[in-house]
Amino acid sequence: MSEQLSRAISSNQEGPHSDVPGLVARYWQNPFRKPIAEHSAAAFAEAASIVDTFHGPIILDACCGVGESTATLARRYPEALVIGVDKSAHRLGKHTAHSSSADVGRYVLVRADLNDFWRLAADAQWQPTHQFLMYPNPWPKKKHLGRRWHGSPVFPSMVKLGGNFELRSNWSVYLQEMSLALAALSVDSAMEQLPDDLAPITPFERKYQASGQALWRLQAHLEHPQLVEPSQLDELRKLAEATADMLKSSARKNEARR
Ligand SMILES: C[S@@+](CC[C@H](N)C(=O)[O-])C[C@H]1O[C@@H](n2cnc3c(N)ncnc32)[C@H](O)[C@@H]1O
Repeated sequence: MSEQLSRAISSNQEGPHSDVPGLVARYWQNPFRKPIAEHSAAAFAEAASIVDTFHGPIILDACCGVGESTATLARRYPEALVIGVDKSAHRLGKHTAHSSSADVGRYVLVRADLNDFWRLAADAQWQPTHQFLMYPNPWPKKKHLGRRWHGSPVFPSMVKLGGNFELRSNWSVYLQEMSLALAALSVDSAMEQLPDDLAPITPFERKYQASGQALWRLQAHLEHPQLVEPSQLDELRKLAEATADMLKSSARKNEARR
């Protein structure tokens, strides 16, 4: 993985997109019917055969890239089976196994599209104790909201899987939106900046840290999700608009001061 420096995210969106609560409501009420890709179904079946014979906690590491975080989590949770999922065979192929060490823990890397994998896992009633989502592609253009995980039709399946959820990103707007999306499903979340001296556990985290970018973490317990009332959805939409306005005006003031 490249160690080159990376530029901070630039977007035509100053704050959270106000369509997030409405999109979550739409997808919560209308199941995602896109056919499951054959390769995802086969990969899920293989993973499920391992899960079925494992008697311990299951942890999902979504968008695991080269699987560095998957291996780290397996060491951190030695009693668990950690399943890293990524659609990129190229990235997964760069995984460096740490088999020389005695305390490797248990993990598997699966090549699958999460648009399928999360649905299959939710339908199979998996109950992961933890779900990690480290540095998902931000899709920072405003028009690309639907490509962010909280703006996509698979989002309800991910939330229904449950467990302790952790999302990390170098784009705070992504977390603000995730927080709104979870709030639309009655799930509270907390967001914080990660310390500058954090020991990175993924290549992207390492790259962003080396570039001096702020890194963010959102945590939530995905328990008993249910869609809030329409009036509350409207409140969330207004909150998104107010936050975006505030961030826009503070960006303008900073610009004027320069
Ligand atoms: C920015 S990289 C982050 C990788 C890793 N978590 C890290 O921090 O180094 C985003 C990853 O998401 C994966 N990804 C994007 N869309 C996906 C999908 N629909 N299903 C599975 N993986 C996906 C990409 O292949 C890529 O490896």
